[in-house]
Amino acid sequence: MRRIILGGTGIEASCLGFGCASLGSRVPREEGLRALAAVFEQGVDWLDLAPAYGRGQAETIAAEFIRGRRDRLRLCTKVGLAPPRNAGGLKGRVMGAAMPLARKAIGAVPALRGLARASGATANTKLPLTPELLRGSLEQSLARLGTDHVDLYALHNAEAAEIARDDILRALEEILASGKARAVAVATSPEVAEAAIGRGAPFGVVQLALPDPGRPDMVFAAARGSGFGAIGHSVFGVEGALAGLEARLGADPVARAEVLAAAGVDQPRAALGRLLLARAFAINPEGIVLASMFSGRSRSENIAMAGAAPGDAARALIDRLAA
Ligand SMILES: NC(=O)c1ccc[n+]([C@@H]2O[C@H](COP(=O)([O-])OP(=O)(O)OC[C@H]3O[C@@H](n4cnc5c(N)ncnc54)[C@H](OP(=O)(O)O)[C@@H]3O)[C@@H](O)[C@H]2O)c1
Repeated sequence: MRRIILGGTGIEASCLGFGCASLGSRVPREEGLRALAAVFEQGVDWLDLAPAYGRGQAETIAAEFIRGRRDRLRLCTKVGLAPPRNAGGLKGRVMGAAMPLARKAIGAVPALRGLARASGATANTKLPLTPELLRGSLEQSLARLGTDHVDLYALHNAEAAEIARDDILRALEEILASGKARAVAVATSPEVAEAAIGRGAPFGVVQLALPDPGRPDMVFAAARGSGFGAIGHSVFGVEGALAGLEARLGADPVARAEVLAAAGVDQPRAALGRLLLARAFAINPEGIVLASMFSGRSRSENIAMAGAAPGDAARALIDRLAA
């Protein structure tokens, strides 16, 4: 596992982070705990959490794994999104229990996704940022996680106006001074990430989606150039980029052969997964790339790729295919 020093923080961590957004929702507790143990054993020590993740259950479940290992783990949690309506109530718990089945059905019938969103069953709610929310949400996260500090505290889906406000900036400075967070970040859009880089302290890290295949990187290079840490997610594309590229290979045997040869596997989907991850490490070579890897297959693919050097050739090939 390649290790990095995350810019803007001085924190050493694995270059691959485990994204826990599905822990406690799509992924049941026991399966999630097994996955956490498996990735940790293979060198992944960065966990990406938020109060809203797993329909509000992710931090509580992760705490069972963190206990006894806190000093060997790096934790990011966030503030600013609330879990879906009633996630903690009886109705929400019943929904939560039904969620793995519901997600399978939604996967099989994509039209159901819109219905589920409209019902509020899956949507997190943006909370307006205030100093009280920043302090209170952090205390609640620390209590759920069973720790006295997080390594990174990120403003989840923060808006440009929020990160420019004096009261927000002062509250973040106080949080840093208290030692309850070692660094603060924005975890939001490229535009707000750029604004945070322009502002500098108290922000030291930006977390955002990697640019879709074929799109230029506007922010990761800027972060590096300004001494910021950068954390990338959505390696496989926000809206079905992987499926789009797979369809392209289906229609183009020459491109298919080129991709299979570059990845060294004989399945187009696995090959694209590898190349997209190699591209992510090339775009963000000094930072952290997040992936969900609850299944053994994702884990072994992602951990293998995180041991290799960042893949500039993979980046060029994927971007050429998507252009
Ligand atoms: N605003 C923010 O800060 C923000 C926004 C989005 C995401 N995130 C963070 O980033 C994490 C990852 O989110 P994401 O949206 O980028 O999800 P993702 O990692 O793209 O995962 C989506 C799906 O792709 C699968 N997958 C993982 N590795 C793969 C591979 N090598 N080949 C093919 N499929 C693979 C996952 O498998 P499994 O079923 O094995 O898990 C999962 O089902 C989240 O959990 C969250 O922590 C943060």
